[in-house]
Amino acid sequence: FLEFRSIPYGTKRDGELVLNRYSSLVTNGYEFPGAQAMLYAAGIKSQEDMRKKPQVGVASVWWEGNPCNMHLLDLGKAVKEGLEKNGMIGWQFNTIGVSDAITMSNQGMRFSLQSRDIIADSIETTTCAQHHDANISIPGCDKNMPGCIMAMARHNRPSIMIYGGSIKGGYSERLRQPVNISSCFEAHGALMYGKISEADLDDVVRHACPGPGGCGGMYTANTMATAIEAMGLTLPGSSTTPAESPAKMRECLRATEAIKVCLEKDIKPRDLITRESFENAMVVTMIMGGSTNAVLHFLAMSHTADLDLTIDDFQRVSDKIPYLADLKPSGKYMVTDLAEIGGMPSVLKFLIHANLVNGDIPTVTGKTLRENCESAPSLDPGQDIIRPLSNPIKSSGHIRILKGNLAPGGAVAKITGKEGKVFVGKARVYDGEPALIASLERGEIRPDENTVLCVRYEGPKGGPGMPEQLKTSAVLMGAGLRNVALITDGRYSGASHGFIVGHIVPEAQVGGPLAVLKDGDIVTINAETNQISMNVSDEEIASRLKSWKAPCLKVTRGTLAKYVHLVGDASHGAVLDMF
Ligand code: FES
Repeated sequence: FLEFRSIPYGTKRDGELVLNRYSSLVTNGYEFPGAQAMLYAAGIKSQEDMRKKPQVGVASVWWEGNPCNMHLLDLGKAVKEGLEKNGMIGWQFNTIGVSDAITMSNQGMRFSLQSRDIIADSIETTTCAQHHDANISIPGCDKNMPGCIMAMARHNRPSIMIYGGSIKGGYSERLRQPVNISSCFEAHGALMYGKISEADLDDVVRHACPGPGGCGGMYTANTMATAIEAMGLTLPGSSTTPAESPAKMRECLRATEAIKVCLEKDIKPRDLITRESFENAMVVTMIMGGSTNAVLHFLAMSHTADLDLTIDDFQRVSDKIPYLADLKPSGKYMVTDLAEIGGMPSVLKFLIHANLVNGDIPTVTGKTLRENCESAPSLDPGQDIIRPLSNPIKSSGHIRILKGNLAPGGAVAKITGKEGKVFVGKARVYDGEPALIASLERGEIRPDENTVLCVRYEGPKGGPGMPEQLKTSAVLMGAGLRNVALITDGRYSGASHGFIVGHIVPEAQVGGPLAVLKDGDIVTINAETNQISMNVSDEEIASRLKSWKAPCLKVTRGTLAKYVHLVGDASHGAVLDMF
């Protein structure tokens, strides 16, 4: 990665350690008077401040139109004030972001994964171009977290992530039950199959999201936040402190104290983003029943930090780590419930004591992960959110890496154990999710026959952007169709559950075997042997592929067209710089 000119660590000025090692290049001396003029205009008050104070970029993925992100500007302001109190200068800036729930229309969802890389690009750009000495990033929605961490791995200046926090749970008076974002999709499925009324659906929709915060189950945002906390890149408790709690504001202040420690001790992202910390991230993802998107994002983060994590590492970890957390989407509880029993510090303390998580890794506090968690309350034996190791929900991880003649380059399955371990069914093939949704709306999926619904041309290039198939999986749940499995070269939302396999590589658009799967072929998904295959011989697949022609790309201009040309496959994180 590009090493920028900076004053060497350890340099002293007037007997004090120089902390503004990057910004000094423009704020000291008279080589760049124009830069200094601009900085005075932007708020620097004195020459002393100009010359001595470290400048910290405060990057929030703020925008108004999404509960996951709408409060992040205020968190950024609190960080800026904290920086000033602690003798630093904070520069707030924003990146773009998209709401995975709002992009859910097929067109919008094509931009979701791409937003991860734009977030990384924009934070990297501002940090490096503006000579920031450090960075505090404040993400909220799914792709925000990996985007922020990828940027940190690129600029490698002292950095801390503050997660925006989870939303409160909602409640539907009509249905007399707690509701959340995935209840909306399931209620839609229930409406389609006549199980609830339109008024019931409307009540669910109106009460599912009662304020700011990321989706509150162990969906992608919380999966990434808990894993990143286990990597030591946040303050203890960041991932489970609710969005609206006063503790979230206090965290913003504490983060500014911690960033000073990072500057003083020269703790940089690449000191923390290591093979060891990725092991912790993978373990926590399995324990918590996290989203399949974690596979894609960890691979992308690892690539950005020049590490060699592979898709097979997930299977290795999944084989030895149980699934313990009874959290939504397949469990009972929300992350706000987890916060009440001690939150992530208590979970990490438990996992460190059980030797499942490495407590010796360094963190942004300047202490080890173990030291950070020591004072957290131990998990109460009476709680049932995190099961004991002696009574797991599943004795191995729920994420399986499948391979076979349908996915020679790999696929990612989420099998919690509730769905069974092997599924065999007749393929029903759809080119894109809308075709499948239309088929469901026509009531074409038979409840009395095992069916493997295949949604293809939804990969990184074909989608483009690997759109999530949340709607389909949730509608199937809501409709009560339990005898179906869903496979795709696209992705699933962290809120998806059921017998689902995504990230199939190679994708259909580039001539993967999925492109020649036909209605009626028998597909076998075996989560014990980690295989996904169709009952079609290699010769027949080769012959079908001979007469197959790639469909035209869906976009030829604009940001997605650039994306299509650059994006790599899902088994390598769907990154844009795989050269
Ligand atoms: Fe933002 Fe779910 S849509 S976290």
